[in-house]
Amino acid sequence: KTNQQWGGRFSEPTDAFVARFTASVDFDRRLYKQDIQGSVAHARMLAKVGVLTEDERDAIIRGLGEVRVEIERGEFEWSVALEDVHMNIEAALTKKIGITGKKLHTGRSRNDQVATDIRLYLRDEIDLILAEISRLQQGLLDLAEQEADTIMPGFTHLQTAQPVTFGHHLLAWFEMLSRDYERFADCRKRVNILPLGAAALAGTTYPIDRAYTAELLQFDAPAGNSLDAVSDRDFAIEFCAASSLLLMHMTRMSEELVLWTSAQFNFINLPDRFCTGSSIMPQKKNPDVPELVRGKSGRVYGHLMALLTLMKSQPLAYNKDNQEDKEPLFDTVDTVKGCLRAFGDMIPAIESRKPEMREAALRGFSTATDLADYLVRKGVAFRDAHEIVGLSVAYGIKTGKDLGEMTLEELQQFSDTIAADVFDVLTLEGSVAARNHIGGTAPDQVRGAVIRGRDLLSAR
Ligand code: ARG
Repeated sequence: KTNQQWGGRFSEPTDAFVARFTASVDFDRRLYKQDIQGSVAHARMLAKVGVLTEDERDAIIRGLGEVRVEIERGEFEWSVALEDVHMNIEAALTKKIGITGKKLHTGRSRNDQVATDIRLYLRDEIDLILAEISRLQQGLLDLAEQEADTIMPGFTHLQTAQPVTFGHHLLAWFEMLSRDYERFADCRKRVNILPLGAAALAGTTYPIDRAYTAELLQFDAPAGNSLDAVSDRDFAIEFCAASSLLLMHMTRMSEELVLWTSAQFNFINLPDRFCTGSSIMPQKKNPDVPELVRGKSGRVYGHLMALLTLMKSQPLAYNKDNQEDKEPLFDTVDTVKGCLRAFGDMIPAIESRKPEMREAALRGFSTATDLADYLVRKGVAFRDAHEIVGLSVAYGIKTGKDLGEMTLEELQQFSDTIAADVFDVLTLEGSVAARNHIGGTAPDQVRGAVIRGRDLLSAR
């Protein structure tokens, strides 16, 4: 026989290169735990419906347990000739318990087996990722609370726009992550469906009990169509899409952290333990963690494209193409977990440089809109107010003065509606405190949003 598991109809052994080329064991061995977990449930189900005896079931479960221990001790001998994790484990089982091991694959195919393994794997990884997102969000809430009163310039077009509180800025990141959390949680619902029972593609002739297998493996339900169950990897694509959006958000945070740590901004300090130095320039302290997270988005987006392309135009049902789902998926999981862990540790350690942030907000006429709003409250039409403030700013640029630094007389050159009370609105504190509505930047709103954020996290 040319191959233990399927060699019956073959008249020559597989070409040595083809065997290596088509084998997946080098990477799919990562699924050994799920493979065994799925096999144990399958064996229990087969015994329940009378296809296996209870003794056979127990022998299989015991044998699989021993295989698992061997794998975990690093004593298991993985064989490329046995192609993949599934056949490696099954062959080892049969070697241990004899003919009964050969009965495990009754009513099952590697097609529904591998789909089950990936779903079990991804479900657990999603749970870990959800927990890590929550931890990062927790860190953001704590920092936002500390920084509720810290004033910094807010930007549009990366030009100074209006003063905001640093806490409010951090809570913008919190919101992005809340949507990411929901996307992963929603993706999990479609991951948590049981393919087993679909067998190769058409189902099986044995009196299987798929609801029982689903219950044993804590799947929400058996897949509704056997052809679909063995073939689609949309759940993995969806996971990569959720991961891409998360990484996209993290690149935005990264970009700002990199800018803020630069000498030109100097808004924050990242503790040394999150940075590295230069081998030539002794003065350097580089924000490697956010830079690397920004860079890692590339591979995650790439994996999304890879999986979309992998699935594109595949006819029903299973095709070998799908073996290519694993490496992109595994690397996405590893990358997402790594980035979340790094950020979860680093974000709470951010140290703000409050005087520098405040100083930056004083430059760039950040209270210009406040002055316009002040004029509107005094009865000036908004477009006219805009023009008046524009002229004041032009004067400020010429004379090197911010609006708050001008005298009343100077301001009155542009409108005699301006009175001494104008200075209340030209201060940074007055500007942020005035934006006191849900979603606004006022310190009180930041504190309220932190409380709501904590409620959200504790309800998860
Ligand atoms: N190693 C395969 C995969 O990852 C398992 C399923 C193989 N099925 C088959 N009919 N060749 O997709």
